[in-house]
Amino acid sequence: MSIETVATQPIPGQKPGTSGLRKQTRVFMGPHFLENYVQAIWTGLGGAAGTTLVLGGDGRYFNDRAAQVVLRMAAAEGVSKVIVGQDAILSTPAASHLIRSRGADGGIILSASHNPGGHDGDFGLKYNGANGGPAPESVTEKIFAATKTITEYRILAAIDVDLSTPGTHRMGDMEVEVVDPVADYADLMETLFDFDAIRALFAGGFTICFDAMHAVTGPYAKAIFEDRLGAPAGSVVNGTPSPDFGGGHPDPNPIWAKDLVDRMMGPDAPDFGAASDGDGDRNMIMGRGIYVTPSDSLAALAANATLAPAYAGGLKGLARSMPTSGAVDRVAEALGLDCYETPTGWKFFGNLLDAGKITLCGEESAGTSSDHVREKDGVWAVLLWLNILAQKKQPVAELMAEHWAKFGRNYYTRHDYEAVDTGIADTMVAEMRVRMRDMPGRKAAGLRIESADEFAYHDPVDGSVAEKQGLRFGLEGGGRVVVRLSGTGTVGATVRVYLERLETDPGKLHEDPQEALAPIVAAAEAITGLKQRTGRTAPDVIT
Ligand code: G1P
Ligand code: ZN
Repeated sequence: MSIETVATQPIPGQKPGTSGLRKQTRVFMGPHFLENYVQAIWTGLGGAAGTTLVLGGDGRYFNDRAAQVVLRMAAAEGVSKVIVGQDAILSTPAASHLIRSRGADGGIILSASHNPGGHDGDFGLKYNGANGGPAPESVTEKIFAATKTITEYRILAAIDVDLSTPGTHRMGDMEVEVVDPVADYADLMETLFDFDAIRALFAGGFTICFDAMHAVTGPYAKAIFEDRLGAPAGSVVNGTPSPDFGGGHPDPNPIWAKDLVDRMMGPDAPDFGAASDGDGDRNMIMGRGIYVTPSDSLAALAANATLAPAYAGGLKGLARSMPTSGAVDRVAEALGLDCYETPTGWKFFGNLLDAGKITLCGEESAGTSSDHVREKDGVWAVLLWLNILAQKKQPVAELMAEHWAKFGRNYYTRHDYEAVDTGIADTMVAEMRVRMRDMPGRKAAGLRIESADEFAYHDPVDGSVAEKQGLRFGLEGGGRVVVRLSGTGTVGATVRVYLERLETDPGKLHEDPQEALAPIVAAAEAITGLKQRTGRTAPDVIT
């Protein structure tokens, strides 16, 4: 087998976003696109010869082909060994765990997360480091720089490696170990949670519906909830992964997981409902008749985590991304814990977790996790909820009512405007950046603006600074508006408007969030002029 050196040239647009490089599938499949980026990863890392890497993806269209290309390029680079999930499948948290448990130097995850898949959908590729977490910006910047100067890439001329069964193969001088994608991860979960208590919960008639959304978590959820924990067969729905996620949008929120929401709000709802996304790192939590916002879920998990064996000794600290609601801050205060505020994107939690400053963290975008891996983890979040419910023996709605009565309720919603003209979005942000200096003291739709700034993060562990991480506006009465542009979209700009208001009046804890937030929504429009600028009348997605 020989190594081919292929002449190439930089391809514009290979800048990694919030979570790796994401593009339309057909862009990724274009000539040299994938190869250029993989070579840029090797360059950005200062070479990968002699290393051990983990490789897997969420099974979306092109996952299998891309994996073979990565393997041939790894062999050409001189990588010693690649540990690959069977059929090139690994959920993102399972990949993170495998990197850590096998002491690998890093890994490549093939996924565009919750973006639709298929030839007309999206594809993505992300590099994670030896801690199992997404590469920090210092690394992604080097990778991006390499994409701009590339002149050639190297690839082994070889036939495909058989990834269909566990076992060990050779590709040139490189070892390829194919592993069961589920087993190690499921074993890890057993070490964290009281499986006996959860088994007893199910044995007592507790019912669950887990919607895997035709994505990667199906096999994980079946193995853990049905096989190991005894939930009845059929508790996992849409559990067979498909390359285009059944033609759906594998994003677990009330819009895209509407079937589950309807079921949970209906007369024969199970006790607990959950969904996860394309690559298994996101989660949506529901109880009978109640949707738990991700921000509230993080707060409730933090407040009750010590009921699970892994966290029984107490939590080191907590963290949330800046746009996530302040609900978890109130729990941290009550528990006497530090609570860190990081920019959007899981990579910013890595240092805090590695340094032992936090145990649990999360984002409003349906991501929650702990220090057991360095990614968010959908199945883990569901298991922690189940462990807590097994101990507290109460319905989700009752648990949340008690939580709000104790800590207050941070009413929260996010309004997304998708495929907005990039020029309009950039101009809006640029103008607000200037205007916001004079905003404090003025009124927006009748509410006094108390503060206005652009979030910059000073990492307390390595001192790095991340600037321009979202515009924040504090309003009288504890309201908040945050505006930022998505870093994961692939068409035009997605403008995200995050809206929040704290309510502590015991008589006002059970209102409709959109109604409770109507004054904040009006203030947001007065501040941004978003609808007026875009001609839109309503958001595309409300979560
Ligand atoms: C979105 C979410 C963010 C999450 C990321 C990857 O990024 O908002 O919280 O970490 O997806 O799942 P965004 O599109 O807002 O840049
Ligand atoms: Zn994801």
